[in-house]
Amino acid sequence: MRAKTILLGKDNEVIPTLLEIHCAVDQPKILDCTYNTGKMWKGLNYKPHRMDINPALDLDTIGDFTKMPFDDHSFDVIVFDPPHLPTNAASANSSKIWESKYGITSDKKVGRDGDNVIGMFDPFIMEAKRVLVKDGIILAKIADLVHNHRYQWQQVEFVNSVRKLQMTACDMMIKCDPNAGNLQSSKWKNIKHLRKAHCYWIVVRNSSRCECKK
Ligand SMILES: C[S@@+](CC[C@H](N)C(=O)[O-])C[C@H]1O[C@@H](n2cnc3c(N)ncnc32)[C@H](O)[C@@H]1O
Repeated sequence: MRAKTILLGKDNEVIPTLLEIHCAVDQPKILDCTYNTGKMWKGLNYKPHRMDINPALDLDTIGDFTKMPFDDHSFDVIVFDPPHLPTNAASANSSKIWESKYGITSDKKVGRDGDNVIGMFDPFIMEAKRVLVKDGIILAKIADLVHNHRYQWQQVEFVNSVRKLQMTACDMMIKCDPNAGNLQSSKWKNIKHLRKAHCYWIVVRNSSRCECKK
């Protein structure tokens, strides 16, 4: 059956579908450059190379996705799940969890300031282009958000960066997890925007092709 653009489920249901349709290689070399604890690989047979900037995690490589410590053309697939919630969204009491689980911190020295995630797109895409084989793909999990009373169009910014840097955004799946935790905030007294209940999985190809060669 042909998969649809909307999935009610989890990331580990998204990844195999996107690889099957868009990856030309049967046993791809995969880099997860924002691995954290690898929740999205749960129950899957893939063995990605595990990279993250946080040295406290169990990883193969500690590294920054804007300066990846790999040779040119090393991977067929790069999975990118950057922090996508702004630091200021977390209260003083909740910020520790947000920091460990989502990588959000206001510590600009380690380059993980959640408020500035859009600014990481260009440097990440340039590095991904270098580290991917030709026709290799990025699978990027991107979520829009509301910050400072403004809707932040992260998926639009991401696709704009991809186009500017001459790669091809070739497909997209919207994932909505019906069992996702119900975050609450004392700040939500006056509701001015809809609550985000989904994220985008965007497929980017390292060439001008939109469709897979296989
Ligand atoms: C949303 S979490 C990823 C969750 C992960 N996909 C999982 O399934 O468990 C974002 C991760 O990006 C990492 N990160 C933030 N900035 C980074 C950077 N510049 N380079 C590499 N990793 C970074 C954070 O440390 C955090 O672990």
